[in-house]
Amino acid sequence: MLFENHRFISFPQASYARFVLDETRCNGCGRCIKTCPIQLLMIKDEKACPNERYDDFRCITCQNCVSVCPQDAITIKGDYRVKKGFWKNADLVKGGKTLPDPLFFHDEKPFEDYEHDLTETEKVIYKRRSIRLYRKKQVPRELVHRVIEAGRFAPSAGNNQPWKFIVIQNKDLISEINQKCKKFIKIVMRGTMPDSWLKKQTPGDKNAKLKKWQTVATSLLVKWRAGDLDPRARGGMNTVTSDPDYDIFLGAPTLIIILADKRGIGSIDLDTGICTQNMVLAAHSLGLGTCYIGLIDGLMMYPKFRKSMGITHPFEIVTSFTLGYPQGQIDNIVKREQARVNWID
Ligand SMILES: Cc1cc2nc3c(=O)[nH]c(=O)nc-3n(C[C@H](O)[C@H](O)[C@H](O)COP(=O)(O)O)c2cc1C
Ligand code: SF4
Ligand code: SF4
Repeated sequence: MLFENHRFISFPQASYARFVLDETRCNGCGRCIKTCPIQLLMIKDEKACPNERYDDFRCITCQNCVSVCPQDAITIKGDYRVKKGFWKNADLVKGGKTLPDPLFFHDEKPFEDYEHDLTETEKVIYKRRSIRLYRKKQVPRELVHRVIEAGRFAPSAGNNQPWKFIVIQNKDLISEINQKCKKFIKIVMRGTMPDSWLKKQTPGDKNAKLKKWQTVATSLLVKWRAGDLDPRARGGMNTVTSDPDYDIFLGAPTLIIILADKRGIGSIDLDTGICTQNMVLAAHSLGLGTCYIGLIDGLMMYPKFRKSMGITHPFEIVTSFTLGYPQGQIDNIVKREQARVNWID
């Protein structure tokens, strides 16, 4: 069963979301280019267009390009759907993405029409977006402290509060971590990517094939860390590592790494996840921008370096997020998959 399905693990027959650009509206400002985590857009003749360096089957439908565009020039069409094999999701996520509908209007009502009926917390939840466009201005210590305090008061199993925070405001150190993480991701990519994808200096090769040993490795690894082998994640990681200038920390002035005490009660990942989301929402409410950076995982390869930052036993890295002042208007309402709910009366 494992090997029987390898074709559908490595290259599932998926349909991807695509962005549609309205050239007549685009003013060539470049915001969508900088914000797209997968670098799917580029500027040509002073207009945004698909980035010819990459295959277009990588969009993660985050809609951040839509969110940052001052001209309403981008629409996202379609959703990521896989009909068969390991990644099959077509029957699990029915319908398409929709706008928030907390008040049961059952139609696509503009957020501004009912925003006044929502609580402040609800507004923060719906409007927050991952920020990938930062101003250079550093975040003052008092505000970072305020964000950490919001994390400190998160619930945790048995109130065990297993978290620890590393705050980095040193540009050179953030840059060093960036280089190290990218090196690690590149190694992972080598095992799970076709050669032509790794040498991504040319337009995408849709007929790319994995070597035999890579197919076996992918089929085995998927049982261990399926999330890292997801075709969208691999496409994204390939973009990150094939561009020498890609900064996984997005030029943000502050980086916060979240650690968990391995001896914590219950699920330390869940506890620290709840804590981090408290921090992210508090930051948004303070006018700051954040972006989770799971790619910090790459630091697992550098024990000495981790030690120099105070990441030692019993603590391990769970995640990280960038923090800074957003460049212009970014927070916005986007569409999401409809909720899968089994409602039992
Ligand atoms: C655990 C986690 C890890 C993430 N890692 C990254 C990352 O390494 N790089 C990045 O640009 N975005 C990262 N993101 C941000 C997601 O891409 C983003 O949350 C998603 O596309 C939805 O967009 P939104 O946050 O604007 O609503 C991560 C998000 C989460 C929750
Ligand atoms: S953000 Fe909008 S206006 Fe600016 S380059 Fe992109 S599509 Fe054009
Ligand atoms: S939806 Fe997200 S991944 Fe897709 S093109 Fe826009 S910014 Fe890039």
